[in-house]
Amino acid sequence: MENFEFVSPTHFVFGKGAEEQVGSKLAECGARTVLLHFGGQSAVKSGLIDRVKASLDAQGIKHVELGGVRPNPEITLAREGIALCKEHDVDWVLAVGGGSVIDSAKAIAVGAHYDGDVWDFFETKRPTDDVLPIAVVLTIPAAGSEASKNTVVSNDALQMKSGYANNAQRPKLAFMNPELTFTLPPFQTAAGLTDMFCHLLERFFDDVGAVPVTDNLCLSLMKTVRAEAPRVMVDPENYDARANVMWAGMLCHQGLAGVGRHEDWATHGLEHELSALYPEITHGAGLAVMFPAWMEFVYDANPARFAYYGREVFGLAPTGDVNADALSAIDETRSFFASLGMPITLAELDVEEDDIEKLIPTLKENKGEPFGSFKKLTMDDAREIYRIAL
Ligand code: NZQ
Ligand code: ZN
Repeated sequence: MENFEFVSPTHFVFGKGAEEQVGSKLAECGARTVLLHFGGQSAVKSGLIDRVKASLDAQGIKHVELGGVRPNPEITLAREGIALCKEHDVDWVLAVGGGSVIDSAKAIAVGAHYDGDVWDFFETKRPTDDVLPIAVVLTIPAAGSEASKNTVVSNDALQMKSGYANNAQRPKLAFMNPELTFTLPPFQTAAGLTDMFCHLLERFFDDVGAVPVTDNLCLSLMKTVRAEAPRVMVDPENYDARANVMWAGMLCHQGLAGVGRHEDWATHGLEHELSALYPEITHGAGLAVMFPAWMEFVYDANPARFAYYGREVFGLAPTGDVNADALSAIDETRSFFASLGMPITLAELDVEEDDIEKLIPTLKENKGEPFGSFKKLTMDDAREIYRIAL
């Protein structure tokens, strides 16, 4: 097991009616003025934003609103949020939405007390503790940003999508009511399931040997997501299935499922370049295409690890040929994503062979070379993985 540090400061309020406690919990924390940050329309249409505002009003907490976060959030809106925080002396950022809203909120919280441009943090990765506290009302289980230390934001002017990691931007409060996810369109539910499953794959496949305490947690979460996925797809208002998926989505990415390991994250890097170039690509859908392609390219570095994963997660019987077992595990992974209605080729995402060269320079800038852990990858390897995915 590798050395590690693990910080998880999030106070979770989970279950029916959780969002009704937003005002009282923020008041307990001493919040006076919050920036209420949300997405395109779903939370307004469902009446959630009005309920959250009423909960703040009941406690006399002032709120400044900034809606309109798009999926694959963009830095320009975060800059607007930072200006609002400075103008109104905001002391908490409250995100109501999914990974995109939460990540935009994190960028705002990081930039609120900074005199320069917040994009500096995404470029230099420099740490800061001067971050506004963040609260979250989660509406889609997927990215795990409700407890993670990461934010991922696009900069359209630079045609980049970059991450910034800092424990200080982990949300302090997360309100998680599974009923709020009943309205998710099937595609978003499926993309979320794919994303959380991939957060486990990124951790399970690296160059560290067995870490049973971490690996068993990871495998158990994989099995849970796999078992609950058809239940939520078939019956979107199944509270228990939605609740299991929502809590799993947090556990998949808050960090515990990777402690003591190096983790890989090559595939997320490959996907982020796709959704940077084409912001209409949903992160989970991009991962559904890229993960099996990455697996095919790297499995020979340690086929026994893939065979183990196939046995544990998909119940595959060993054939005596470890390479064949590894390939079967990859097939099962692709079939699982396809069973959710996810794409399996780049063509389905309207990405063509000519696009590959456009992805490489920013991939190199974001990830460096070589990158990944399970197998160290060059930019030529990345080109080949994109080609496998075509
Ligand atoms: O904008 P609205 O109208 O709210 O619609 C959203 C959006 O179109 C909709 N939605 C959300 N909750 C809903 C709902 N529709 C109906 N009912 C509800 N209850 O769903 C769409 C997708 O929302 P988004 O926030 O983009 O989804 P997700 O949580 O998958 O976030 C994706 C972003 O997170 C990043 C991704 O790269 C991507 O930019 N990630 C962030 C990570 C992190 N911070 O730790 C890690 C991840 O690996 C990921 O990279
Ligand atoms: Zn992800």
